[in-house]
Amino acid sequence: MTGASSHDRRRFLTAGTAVLGAAASAVLWLPGTARAAGATLPDGLFSLGIASGDPLPDGIVLWTRLAPDPLNGGGMPDRVVPVEWEIGEDPRLRKPVRRGVAHARPEYAHSVHVDVRGLRPDRAYWYRFRVEGQVSPTGRTRTAPHPHARNGSLRVALASCQNWQHGYFTPYADMLEQDPDVVLFVGDYIYESTPSSAGPRRHEGAGEPYTLEQYRNRYAQYHTDPDLAAMHANAPWVVTFDDHEVDNDWAGQIPQDPAKQPHDAFVARLTAAFQAYYEHVPVRASAIPDGPHIQMYRRLEFGRLARLNVLDTRQFRSDQVISQADAEDPSLTMLGAEQKEWLLDGLHDSPARWNLVASQIMMAETDLLPGEGKLWYYDAWDGYQVERNALLEEFADIRNPVVLSGDRHLTMISDLKTDYSDPQSEVVGAEFVGTSISSNGDQDQAAFHAQWDPLKADNPHWKLIDAHRGYHLFDIRRDGIDARVRVVDTVVQPQATASTLARLRVENGRPGVEPV
Ligand SMILES: [Fe+2]
Repeated sequence: MTGASSHDRRRFLTAGTAVLGAAASAVLWLPGTARAAGATLPDGLFSLGIASGDPLPDGIVLWTRLAPDPLNGGGMPDRVVPVEWEIGEDPRLRKPVRRGVAHARPEYAHSVHVDVRGLRPDRAYWYRFRVEGQVSPTGRTRTAPHPHARNGSLRVALASCQNWQHGYFTPYADMLEQDPDVVLFVGDYIYESTPSSAGPRRHEGAGEPYTLEQYRNRYAQYHTDPDLAAMHANAPWVVTFDDHEVDNDWAGQIPQDPAKQPHDAFVARLTAAFQAYYEHVPVRASAIPDGPHIQMYRRLEFGRLARLNVLDTRQFRSDQVISQADAEDPSLTMLGAEQKEWLLDGLHDSPARWNLVASQIMMAETDLLPGEGKLWYYDAWDGYQVERNALLEEFADIRNPVVLSGDRHLTMISDLKTDYSDPQSEVVGAEFVGTSISSNGDQDQAAFHAQWDPLKADNPHWKLIDAHRGYHLFDIRRDGIDARVRVVDTVVQPQATASTLARLRVENGRPGVEPV
């Protein structure tokens, strides 16, 4: 959002100076990698870049992880390392408004998550880190609007599913140019799959990760993608995980292949995967894992304009079903009782114009059977029909619900309806399934349409389906959301050309979505 006046800015600088005292006269950090006298750490401490996330009106999380040898455990000594940080209003950080020292601990892979507070709402900040004279790149971030702010606009980028082996993360180069206020990432930040030479890039390691060190190496490899690193350094991210951060199609404490992973072994794997996830994403300390549990569902507020409910559709779900009849079992849950109550409370009590729900997996129906009868994907909300339909009934009483999803490796933009078995049923919201950054690589578009277009008659709620790689961009204002589907021509080359595939609009007070 924008709109801070120069008067506000002057007032802010004055206040910042008063708060900091000595900081304003502190010596400016020299850029580059000059080693301080007595330095003991290797060069290249900031090989994984920097990031920020979970913006508040007065705060932001700043992240980095010291890893001079990123693909081999990090390369740091087994001791706590002080990391200086500073944040300010100007790109050159001549006058930092906050600074401090964080402790990079070996038990968290020398990651730091600085929860900066005392910032001003709705404005850009720049930040950087320093360790033994090595200075990180300078990152840019943005605080959320004032809690009472009603106007302005918010630009959100929706991304998911970045498979290293399927392609380069070229959509982020375009996203950078589109300059979103916040990036929403709804899962599959890494893939746990075995290294393969079939694609343009190969996973590190010798197999799937199971141990903490193996997951750390996998995350580190992903952070070395230059387009991903640049996007992290230029906007705050709000992240949640899906299945591949741990194991394909896991549910609760049940792995994809229980015969191969005994329960205790899978709990140990979850514990390692969650810990490595926390270590590599810009989230608050509330997400520090407790063994095989991590608290990821949470709410973020963007003034009175938008409330963002970030779901966790993995940890609390019933195991995936294997038949149509089972998918209609009313005892199945996707969210678990506690999260479901939290979500409904947050939707019904919301003061916001737009109520966004970040769901890893698709909520609208996908009927895969042409003609009579239905065939669903059981891993998505379709496999949890009763809870999904009850939630959609509630949407009828919610102000402007919009679901933002991933997982499918396709763009699927749909009306949300209370009963997909009834073509006349009420439209209660809109859903955007934001294709993938690179997963599935460059798809054959003709083959996609030959397979999927015949299903359109069975899924009249679909407004757009497409198989290009990319992301979705939303300009959210009081009167409506203008959405653009941004796609790239390739992810199998490191450079790509981006374009707008489609424009759609969600109108305030009118459930559903329409192409423009
Ligand atoms: Fe995926």
